[in-house]
Amino acid sequence: MLMSIAIQAISAHTGLEEKEISSLLEVPPQPEWGDVAFPCFLLAKKFRKAPQLIALELAEAVNREEGLTASASGAYVNITLGRSIHIPLMLAELRKPEFFKPDLGHGQRVVIDMSSPNIAKPFGIGHLRSTVIGAALYRILGETGYVPVSVNHLGDWGTQFGKQIAAYKRWGNEEQLQQDPIGESLKLYVRFHEEAEHDPSLEDEGREWFRRLEHGDSEAKRLWEFFVEVSLREFDRMYQRLNITFDHVLGESFYNDKMQAVVAQLRTKGLLEESEGALVVRLEDEGLPPCLILKKDGTTIYPTRDLATAIYRHEVMKVDRLLYVVGGEQQLHFRQVFAVLKRAGETWAEQCEHVPFGLMRFAGKKMSTRRGKVVKLEEVLDEAVARALSIITQKNPALQDQQEIAEDVGIGAIIFGDLKNNRLNEVDFSLEDALTFEGETGPYVQYTHARIRSLLEKAHAGTDTLAGSSIDVPAGERHAPDSTYTSDEMLGDAGWALLKQLVRYQGQLERAARQLEPSVIARFALDTAQAFNRFYVKERIVEGGPWRIQLAEQTADILAHTLQLLGLKAPYRM
Ligand code: ARG
Repeated sequence: MLMSIAIQAISAHTGLEEKEISSLLEVPPQPEWGDVAFPCFLLAKKFRKAPQLIALELAEAVNREEGLTASASGAYVNITLGRSIHIPLMLAELRKPEFFKPDLGHGQRVVIDMSSPNIAKPFGIGHLRSTVIGAALYRILGETGYVPVSVNHLGDWGTQFGKQIAAYKRWGNEEQLQQDPIGESLKLYVRFHEEAEHDPSLEDEGREWFRRLEHGDSEAKRLWEFFVEVSLREFDRMYQRLNITFDHVLGESFYNDKMQAVVAQLRTKGLLEESEGALVVRLEDEGLPPCLILKKDGTTIYPTRDLATAIYRHEVMKVDRLLYVVGGEQQLHFRQVFAVLKRAGETWAEQCEHVPFGLMRFAGKKMSTRRGKVVKLEEVLDEAVARALSIITQKNPALQDQQEIAEDVGIGAIIFGDLKNNRLNEVDFSLEDALTFEGETGPYVQYTHARIRSLLEKAHAGTDTLAGSSIDVPAGERHAPDSTYTSDEMLGDAGWALLKQLVRYQGQLERAARQLEPSVIARFALDTAQAFNRFYVKERIVEGGPWRIQLAEQTADILAHTLQLLGLKAPYRM
């Protein structure tokens, strides 16, 4: 690996464990100082010497090792790795399949609650974030030894469906609803809330319809099923474009017959208390407001359903860990649900984790269903693809499959524009920024990848320069390998920096998995693309010898891989 020779040398001279050394190593602030820096502070106690003195002695010892140059700087030993020894080792490391699949999870099953839009309402931007972040985490955990299980926990149950039915009964029109199901549902929803402001009987009507629904009333059920069906049709279109599938689509309604058991369990444990006619679990000891379990009219509520859901996931799906990729505004809800589970004696509640994310705005506009002012996600996707198409046709008029590539680039721009941000940050999304080929964008990474592929194609065509490389050149066309590299073939600073960057991949993947943070991978992809572009400007690649070609090839593979992890396509031409 990158630092293994240096680590072994330090271990031999200090007696420290290799693991400990590797956790202490730093990158020197200036590249001229070397490739790695080892701080000696911790050794002062062990050797009863000033760390500066230890650094001097250690530097001298490390310096005698082949392939390493070391010097002391204060309490640090700065080490420069000999390139001719390290380059082939690092390139070989990048070819090992296990390099890409570090085992953190040891087969642990992790359920990822993701996307989870609400029926009869537009697929919102928050749901987009949940979908995109959840899908990336699904792949990241899958590559790091976990067994991820994705669940789309559709919001298909609750009082709002009673309201929906009540509004439909009053003002609805079947034909209009068939034509534009979500738009029409939304109109009914908005009207319901407007009129309910001066007609309180409407609220009662809505509650009554939901009560009937929970008790299996056939008319209520028929209408509800219709709302679910037409909404799902619209959502599926979105999922297809985003290239998302779920292991399970289990809406809140699925738990309707599993909630009485939860209520009974809470009652047996003496946790249920009455409060203004409703039943709650008090959570004062946890410093939280009471968690509402059953409403005055006996109907269940969002937290009740989440309790039943968590228990089902633990007992039936047999998962070890439960993640909820849901906006930060639901933090209190999840705290309450997890606290109630703990109170009920479910020790595995420790394994439940809310994975929150910040608000995203499209050009300053926020989502609000109540007022009905919604940015329609499908329109945003269409717009992104249209803009991508116009950029692509300008840049490369002769390109084939323009429409398909525009779809990859346009959708990719949106996904990357989301994932490059630390998930907790608020995102002010601008399509224009997300689509530039030069900025910190998905298209920039995709474009760098495509450029390397076409470069490699050129390299393949000019077989003369490929002697001795690992590139597949038909045997008859291969020249006798030349074993002596001219200095021109040695990687320069830019190539060396790129190679060091590629070797960081494994550590970054592990970090992304530990922190449940896809932005770590997006950042890595950007840094890699930048490092490649510097290399491309500074060094001859096609005629630059086998190391450079291998380096370009491995860069392209890693870029394609990171794009795929994030949910973007990596077209070979753009
Ligand atoms: N449907 C909910 C909403 O749109 C999100 C559900 C999140 N998942 C959960 N298990 N509560 O707000």
